[in-house]
Amino acid sequence: MRAAQVSKLEGPESVEIVDIPEPEGYPGGVVIDVHAAGVAFPDVLMTRGLYQMKPELPFVVGGEVAGIVREAPADAHVKAGDRVVALTLLGNAMAEVAVVPTQMVFKLPDNVSLEAGAGILFNDLTVQFCLRKRGRLAEGETVLVHGAAGGIGTSTLRMAAALGAGRVIAVVSTEAKAEVARANGATDVVLADGWLAAVKELTGGRGVDIVLDPVGGDRFTDSVRSLASAGRLLVVGFTAGEIPTVKVNRLLLKNVEVIGAAWGEWVMTHPGYLTEQWDEVAPLLAAGKIEAPKPVLYPLDRAAEAIASLDNRTATGKVVVTLR
Ligand SMILES: NC(=O)c1ccc[n+]([C@@H]2O[C@H](COP(=O)([O-])OP(=O)(O)OC[C@H]3O[C@@H](n4cnc5c(N)ncnc54)[C@H](OP(=O)(O)O)[C@@H]3O)[C@@H](O)[C@H]2O)c1
Repeated sequence: MRAAQVSKLEGPESVEIVDIPEPEGYPGGVVIDVHAAGVAFPDVLMTRGLYQMKPELPFVVGGEVAGIVREAPADAHVKAGDRVVALTLLGNAMAEVAVVPTQMVFKLPDNVSLEAGAGILFNDLTVQFCLRKRGRLAEGETVLVHGAAGGIGTSTLRMAAALGAGRVIAVVSTEAKAEVARANGATDVVLADGWLAAVKELTGGRGVDIVLDPVGGDRFTDSVRSLASAGRLLVVGFTAGEIPTVKVNRLLLKNVEVIGAAWGEWVMTHPGYLTEQWDEVAPLLAAGKIEAPKPVLYPLDRAAEAIASLDNRTATGKVVVTLR
């Protein structure tokens, strides 16, 4: 089968398309003919050996797929021919065939294409975890998201209202990304340059209830400043590179919280949680209450370029690699 493989840790450009044997099936494994695979920021980090998970070289890159079941255990909730999405968490996705444990495979609603499906699980389930479990989003609250035109960002914009948010404010670095944020459902969009003052004005000085922050870096202290009383700042990632620090007197003085939100870690330590999440998200997708992603598609031959677009900050929305 064809696959996008990393054999040296020199960044996205070193991803090569290779012919390798199909993975072996195993008891409890679902064999999937992969049609598309999602790209996410951890793929960039893994091509440099900078992610917390460091598979042995060489490895197939990517953490999520959409495709058609070729073979499934008799007692599984999916069967041959079903359209599914699945988490390979992490690695083994950008290949023509994947074998995934049953509990990481989910039926895709009929109204969602396989290309869009490949862009759902990683980001949408992270965002659902962030807003529901960690952020305790209450009906009508205001959510602000940094990096709003990125994968996690557009996922937040697509989902927050369906999960109860009254207003979703997007922070982006360019006008072009502002358009992407609007197209994905942002109530308001502000540019990163001067964003705090703009948000204070938009909220009449009150601030926001939740900040979802996949960017980190020098915006962090201003994110604490942007919170309303009892607000929550969700630490999701550090695409800006720098890991920020927080002076805890700021939390005390404003009655606000800074909350870690590591979805992958939660999933690994809470069996059954993924199914619980999909049981909320899938009906919302099926009913059109959460719109499916509209991913930017790259053929497998251009997988390196697809991953590089997240590295060089040119990606907008979800990026997906197509295999069939
Ligand atoms: N905690 C969790 O469970 C979890 C789960 C999934 C992903 N993550 C993390 O969430 C983060 C975002 O992932 P993603 O897939 O959404 O990435 P993405 O699609 O590349 O979006 C990231 C956004 O970050 C902003 N950014 C700011 N400085 C940047 C820089 N120096 N380089 C690149 N982007 C920069 C960009 O927006 P602007 O140009 O508009 O600033 C970009 O759109 C990553 O750190 C990832 O590891 C965490």
